[in-house]
Amino acid sequence: MKFLLSQGALLNASTLVSLVAGSPLEANKDLVERGTPQAPNGYAPAAVDCPSTRPSIRQGDTLSQNEVNWLPLRRNATIPAMQDLLRRIDIPDFSSDEYMNQVRNNVSALPNIGLAISGGGYRAMLNGAGALAAWDNRTTNATGQGQLGGLLQASTYLSALSGGGWLVGSLYMNNFTTVETTMNQQLPEPNNIWQTQNSILAGPPDGPSFFDYYSNVFGSIEGKDVNYDTSITDYWGRMLSFQLVNAVDGGPAYTFSSIANDAEFSVGNAPLPLIVADGRTPGETLIPTNTTIFEFSPWELGSFDQSLSGFVPLEFTGSNFSAGQLPQNESCVRGFDNAGFVMGTSSSLFNQFLLQLDRAPQAIPDFLVSAVGSLLTGLGEDNNDIADWTPNPFYGYNPSANRGANSRRLTLVDGGEDLQNVPYHPLIQNQRNVDVIFSIDSSADTTSSWPDGASIVATYQRSLDPIANGTSFPAVPDNKTFINLGLQDRPTFFGCDSSNYTEPVPLVVYIPNHPYSYMSNLSTFALSVNISERNAVINNGYNVVTMGNGTRDTEWPICMGCAILQRSMERTSTPIPEACNQCFARYCWDGTVNSTAPAPYEPTFVGQAINVADSAGNAAGLRGSGAVALTVLVGFWIVLL
Ligand SMILES: *[C@@H]1O[C@H](CO)[C@@H](O)[C@H](O)[C@H]1NC(C)=O
Ligand SMILES: *[C@@H]1O[C@H](CO)[C@@H](O)[C@H](O)[C@H]1NC(C)=O
Ligand SMILES: *[C@@H]1O[C@H](CO)[C@@H](O)[C@H](O)[C@H]1NC(C)=O
Ligand SMILES: *[C@@H]1O[C@H](CO)[C@@H](O)[C@H](O)[C@H]1NC(C)=O
Ligand SMILES: *[C@@H]1O[C@H](CO)[C@@H](O)[C@H](O)[C@H]1NC(C)=O
Ligand SMILES: *[C@@H]1O[C@H](CO)[C@@H](O)[C@H](O)[C@H]1NC(C)=O
Ligand SMILES: *[C@@H]1O[C@H](CO)[C@@H](O)[C@H](O)[C@H]1NC(C)=O
Ligand SMILES: *[C@@H]1O[C@H](CO)[C@@H](O)[C@H](O)[C@H]1NC(C)=O
Ligand SMILES: *[C@@H]1O[C@H](CO)[C@@H](O)[C@H](O)[C@H]1NC(C)=O
Ligand SMILES: *[C@@H]1O[C@H](CO)[C@@H](O)[C@H](O)[C@H]1NC(C)=O
Ligand SMILES: *[C@@H]1O[C@H](CO)[C@@H](O)[C@H](O)[C@H]1NC(C)=O
Ligand SMILES: *[C@@H]1O[C@H](CO)[C@@H](O)[C@H](O)[C@H]1NC(C)=O
Repeated sequence: MKFLLSQGALLNASTLVSLVAGSPLEANKDLVERGTPQAPNGYAPAAVDCPSTRPSIRQGDTLSQNEVNWLPLRRNATIPAMQDLLRRIDIPDFSSDEYMNQVRNNVSALPNIGLAISGGGYRAMLNGAGALAAWDNRTTNATGQGQLGGLLQASTYLSALSGGGWLVGSLYMNNFTTVETTMNQQLPEPNNIWQTQNSILAGPPDGPSFFDYYSNVFGSIEGKDVNYDTSITDYWGRMLSFQLVNAVDGGPAYTFSSIANDAEFSVGNAPLPLIVADGRTPGETLIPTNTTIFEFSPWELGSFDQSLSGFVPLEFTGSNFSAGQLPQNESCVRGFDNAGFVMGTSSSLFNQFLLQLDRAPQAIPDFLVSAVGSLLTGLGEDNNDIADWTPNPFYGYNPSANRGANSRRLTLVDGGEDLQNVPYHPLIQNQRNVDVIFSIDSSADTTSSWPDGASIVATYQRSLDPIANGTSFPAVPDNKTFINLGLQDRPTFFGCDSSNYTEPVPLVVYIPNHPYSYMSNLSTFALSVNISERNAVINNGYNVVTMGNGTRDTEWPICMGCAILQRSMERTSTPIPEACNQCFARYCWDGTVNSTAPAPYEPTFVGQAINVADSAGNAAGLRGSGAVALTVLVGFWIVLL
């Protein structure tokens, strides 16, 4: 059951306790129109007039025409940000301005950057938020000495899954706002998202009253349930939406595909967000490493993997596609791709509750254990512990290779369940030509919820399987070597020596979660995090990617600059600056392996620990509205499902 450890998704006493820990809600506030609620009928998908060219499934052996059209805009927009960042980084004995002027008119010479944010619940969302804040040139002081602000603006792609998907989805649903703006509650009032002190099961403090919250969640799903199979992920996604999309009504009409029409994104002023989920056939519980990996982009849902090799226009999911076409007698449906449902799909860990329930400790009152147990067992029997994307858009499509071609159902689960908790997959498609991937791993692999490289090991192992055709990934050692060599204790580069590979592989900059200013190893199932702790984890994440603003290694920003440029310099036959060679000697894994069993890994602070006065949030007992919430929730589920 190793996969359970990928995100640290083990059910234990503190899990259920944090599930129900919440505080009373404030009064209702007015709703503000904002962003793009493009669904025709709120959360319920609805038939609309079809476009003149009826939507269809496209083959998955190329990039979409939308992406091909968008890329020149984006690549162009990354140039000033990259130039500015490299100028500030100031690699010794190297003129970055001269270099950038040489490559700026030649897209095949220009560095192509991808960012990847792992899963792991709020821990991953907040650690990832610190990383994005540090890489965002709009963050206060992020463009100062030793800082990395601008990397986000210099990147072409931004992939995420599960808790990382909450972060990315949330920012894009809010006009690609900054982490700082969100933390400081400076979004248009009263949309105070990220109020993590309130349990997801209790609703947001600035949102509707407790019972209105539940009425909204269940009411919106009732509307969808009339014509569609709903699943536990619909409830999960609607609840997440109050934290991530809109605190007032959870933005029932906000679709993920609406990002495609966003004024800033469509002109190339933001990277392409890619959210990962795994395919899981009904009845299957464990996810093999050769599972089909799906990606959501603002344009499409589908997979490049040979086991599907197809994409559906995301906007028209919910329509009855058949053999790759939408027959004339079937309507075009829109509104299925609710943003919260997409984020919920990528984070649908509920089947792991089911698998772990027998280990539930004594602290949980028996009535809850048996109520939740019978609920989840029922769900398991109905295969309802997944995200239901039925009707399967890929029904009858590509039957010779598509594993699910005969199924009317398409069921997706948490993108980290195949152990690949860092979403490298979209970024290692050879056609995307990504040079360097800056990846944040917030997995909980060790007993104290720190990463040990298990996720990146899984990606490497998959790259050796035939299903990996069309992707390439550098070699990485086993997780024992990670600990023995300390590769998980600080950033590590993989694939530095591209001559070691016959196909182009990206340079992978692996940045593990680590305590600099806060013990950021929160439980995966912490469904509430009080605000001071939230801010401390974000601050720590900022320090993780800047190595404490360069205090752990004053040359770290230079090394980041070298990583940005390395593949590009190889292509342009530019001599590698000496400072970069020193960086690579320090940060590149050199192929050494030491697979003896290591002592348990317990990291120590790099910097000055933040003292979070009221960090007792996660230890709170069964109390207040939270306890009511769980009881009400269980009651509703039993009635509804
Ligand atoms: C690239 O960006 C520059 C300004 O940054 C602009 O003048 C130029 O038209 C853009 N080119 C394309 C092909 O978009
Ligand atoms: C951030 O980078 C973008 C792209 O280069 C640029 O247009 C913008 O002015 C920068 N913002 C700040 C605050 O530096
Ligand atoms: C563009 O850069 C590539 C190297 O990536 C080089 O092979 C090619 O000749 C360059 N094209 C032009 C027009 O300079
Ligand atoms: C930005 O830097 C200045 C000068 O070091 C400091 O006074 C200020 O507190 C910093 N602001 C933030 C938000 O970190
Ligand atoms: C979205 O962000 C852009 C760029 O920051 C800004 O110009 C625009 O006004 C924002 N739109 C809304 C609706 O807030
Ligand atoms: C996936 O891997 C498992 C275990 O190696 C193997 O039994 C199975 O046939 C593979 N499935 C496909 C579709 O390749
Ligand atoms: C799709 O097909 C199913 C089964 O035939 C049918 O019940 C459903 O109404 C159809 N959906 C639409 C939007 O036509
Ligand atoms: C890999 O994919 C390409 C194109 O999609 C195909 O032509 C080739 O046969 C595949 N190779 C293997 C080993 O499956
Ligand atoms: C490494 O991975 C194996 C399984 O792949 C797992 O059993 C083990 O606990 C992991 N960690 C260490 C330190 O070996
Ligand atoms: C690094 O800078 C950020 C932003 O200015 C700040 O929040 C953080 O505390 C600093 N870290 C250290 C270790 O000084
Ligand atoms: C070079 O490639 C081989 C084969 O894939 C691999 O075993 C080795 O670890 C790689 N070396 C480095 C330094 O990445
Ligand atoms: C390999 O790792 C073990 C356990 O951490 C350590 O005791 C040993 O010294 C290492 N071996 C080498 C050759 O570094």
